[in-house]
Formats: sequence, structure tokens, C-alpha cells
Amino acid sequence: MTAQIIDGKAFAARVRADVAVHVTRLKADHGITPGLAVVLVGEDPASQVYVRSKGKQTVEAGMNSYEHKLSADTSQSDLLTLIDQLNTDPAVHGILVQLPLPGHLNEDLVINAIDPVKDVDGFHISNVGLLGTGQKAMVPCTPLGCLMMLRDHHGSLSGMDAVVIGRSNIVGKPMAQLLLGDSCTVTIAHSRTKNLADVVRLADIVVAAVGRPEMVPGDWIKPGATVIDVGINRVDAPEKGADKTRLVGDCHFASCTEVAGAITPVPGGVGPMTIACLLANTVTACCRANG
Ligand code: GUN
Repeated sequence: MTAQIIDGKAFAARVRADVAVHVTRLKADHGITPGLAVVLVGEDPASQVYVRSKGKQTVEAGMNSYEHKLSADTSQSDLLTLIDQLNTDPAVHGILVQLPLPGHLNEDLVINAIDPVKDVDGFHISNVGLLGTGQKAMVPCTPLGCLMMLRDHHGSLSGMDAVVIGRSNIVGKPMAQLLLGDSCTVTIAHSRTKNLADVVRLADIVVAAVGRPEMVPGDWIKPGATVIDVGINRVDAPEKGADKTRLVGDCHFASCTEVAGAITPVPGGVGPMTIACLLANTVTACCRANG
């Protein structure tokens, strides 16, 4: 079997186009332009790339982008003061603090200082609780993007066996909640899971979010299963020349493709959907703020 490739890049382009239509209507009918504030503390190169990309796509969708770049030694109280200002700024409908933060800052405190209505990451404890109890929540962007691709591919997910590998607050836990909400039977596996291969082999849906390059080989995958690869890992690529690198997922793409029914590629799978969902969440936050 050769798996169908789930084209996250094309899907994300459609989501962004829908967002742009909504933004045009909000401007024309209500005179409102949604605004997204992104806060970056420090100079982590990967975070800089993500933040630049978020800003660019926000503007391309017709929204306002406000970037706040703070030095790595910014104090907790200065960061909280900025968040307070953004919470009360009527032009800002969504607030995202790029993670990870430098070690001296308390991530939980910072995230929970964001107004939950503006929490477009869905990381605030209120949104976590709303999602966990099946209420209307702001949903974290990466798992939301994964769910949209799964629903698009399968229609109903009801009754399917899903294994989420990884238990992070950003991806693993909310992904499991979303799959449960769609009536899957969900297992969360992680680094201490015994017989991980056997657990994964039972799954109709595998979501890999561990951050370990090519950790999941094809012989862990049940024939015909759908594989959603959240990993984005940069590895050496000596075959491309000295000092060259390439991006790989958490799944070994070549061998998984031989067994799976469908798979998301890296790059071009989950990654583009994350930012598209961030834009969609910003429009949602703007609509909720304006009744
Ligand atoms: N760092 C890695 N992924 C994310 C994300 O989805 N949101 C934020 N704020 N930081 C991240």
C-alpha cells in the first residue's frame, strides 16, 4: 500500500482564504479589523522564524499584526505589564506569547495572565478546562489543525482507535481531548509507555508529537491507519553536502508510507495548519469580543 498524502499546505491555504473572507466582511459590515499581538522574549532562532511567519500571514489575511520583541533578560513584571496593556487594548483581539520562554520566567503565570477571551493559543487554564469539559473553548492551534485534517479525510471519527504519542500541554493533551470529543477511543502514550510499538499497532489514527526524529517506523503502523506527524526536527543531511540539513517528522516517512492509508508529510503537513488555525482563532476571538 502507498499512503495517500494529506496535503496540509493546500488545506491551510483554503483555511487562510476563508479567514480572509471573514476579515473582509468584518471590516465592511462592522468597521472592525481583527488584531493579533505576538510577544517574543529572547532570540531563539526557531521562535524568530515562527513569529515572522505568523506576522506575515496575519497581514496577508487582512488583519493587523502587532509584534513585541523583548530582550532575553526581560523581567517577569515587565512582561506581565505588557500583557495587561494588551488585555485592555481594544485593537488587540488575540494575544500569543511564543514559547518556550527564557528559564527565569514562569510560563504558567505568564499564560494565565492573558485574558482567556484573547488567548488564541488556548493555553489559559480556563480554556483548558472548557475544552476538557466539552464547552466552547479557544482550542490550541496545532491539535485543531490535526483534527481538521482528520475530519476532512475521514468524515466521522466516531469509534476509531486513536493513539497520541506525546503528553505535552501544547499538543498531546489537547489532541487527546479533541479526539475524545469526536468519540474516538483514545490512548495517550509517552516516553514511559511500555511496549509502545504494540500500543501504536492497535491504532486507526496515530498522532506523533514527541519531538524525536523518525522515531516511529512503518512496522509500528497498522495497515491502512492514518498517521498525523506533528514533529518538525532538523537533522544533518550529509547526502546533500557538508553542513546541510533537512527537516524530518517524528515518523519515518518512507516506511510509514508503505503501510499507512494516509499520512501527513514533513514539511507541508501539520506545520502550515498551525498558523492557519491561529488566524482562524483570532477571527473567532474578534467575533466573540464584539458579540
Ligand atoms: N511554541 C511552539 N508551538 C507553539 C504554539 O503553538 N504557541 C506558542 N505560543 N508557542 C509555541
